[in-house]
Amino acid sequence: MDGERWNMVDEAVKILGLAGSLREASYNRALLRAASHLVPAGVAMRTFDGLGSLPFFDADVEAAGLPARVADLRRAIAESDALLIATPEYNDGTSAVLKNALDWASRGPIRILAGKPVAVMGAATGRGGARGGIESVIRTMRRAGAHVIDRTVAIPFAMEAFDDELGLAEPRVRADVAALLDELAVEARTGADIAA
Ligand SMILES: Cc1cc2nc3c(=O)[nH]c(=O)nc-3n(C[C@H](O)[C@H](O)[C@H](O)COP(=O)(O)O)c2cc1C
Repeated sequence: MDGERWNMVDEAVKILGLAGSLREASYNRALLRAASHLVPAGVAMRTFDGLGSLPFFDADVEAAGLPARVADLRRAIAESDALLIATPEYNDGTSAVLKNALDWASRGPIRILAGKPVAVMGAATGRGGARGGIESVIRTMRRAGAHVIDRTVAIPFAMEAFDDELGLAEPRVRADVAALLDELAVEARTGADIAA
């Protein structure tokens, strides 16, 4: 995790960021980084890095005891007030690495995703702006009982949307991400109903 624990920020709304791409120059990891600079006052954001080190979900492994990295992820989610997810689009869905992480997070006996406020955004090099990835994450999270907000941010043609330092090039897109964070923070503060 980027930053050790939440206990330095007890008074803040705690948002945990997850990015569904492993590559160093990932647009989605850059999008999450950009979001971390746009959080409203009273909000702290951390990211859980290294989803690639989670084993593939296997019910036999689960039955034998949660792998340490899975336990780390579940604890980070449980201790957060809300999740911000940045997903790529792979063939009209999300990435395997992110789906795997969300599947691990969705398992009992403690339903850590139930009622958890979640916002989803995505960047892709195609014209659809990772819409297929965003929609697949929303379906998965709603099925797991999370409270996914309706607002999303979809960034098409990602190679033009980021500058050379992988910052968001367009003020309008930065404003969209800031609005997403504002809404997520409101949901996290007021507490969310469990999605039907
Ligand atoms: C297996 C695979 C499938 C992809 N499918 C799509 C797609 O359906 N739509 C799209 O816009 N881009 C697609 N792309 C391109 C991604 O948008 C691009 O690789 C993007 O940079 C991935 O996100 P990242 O920068 O965060 O790693 C695909 C890439 C891969 C590797």
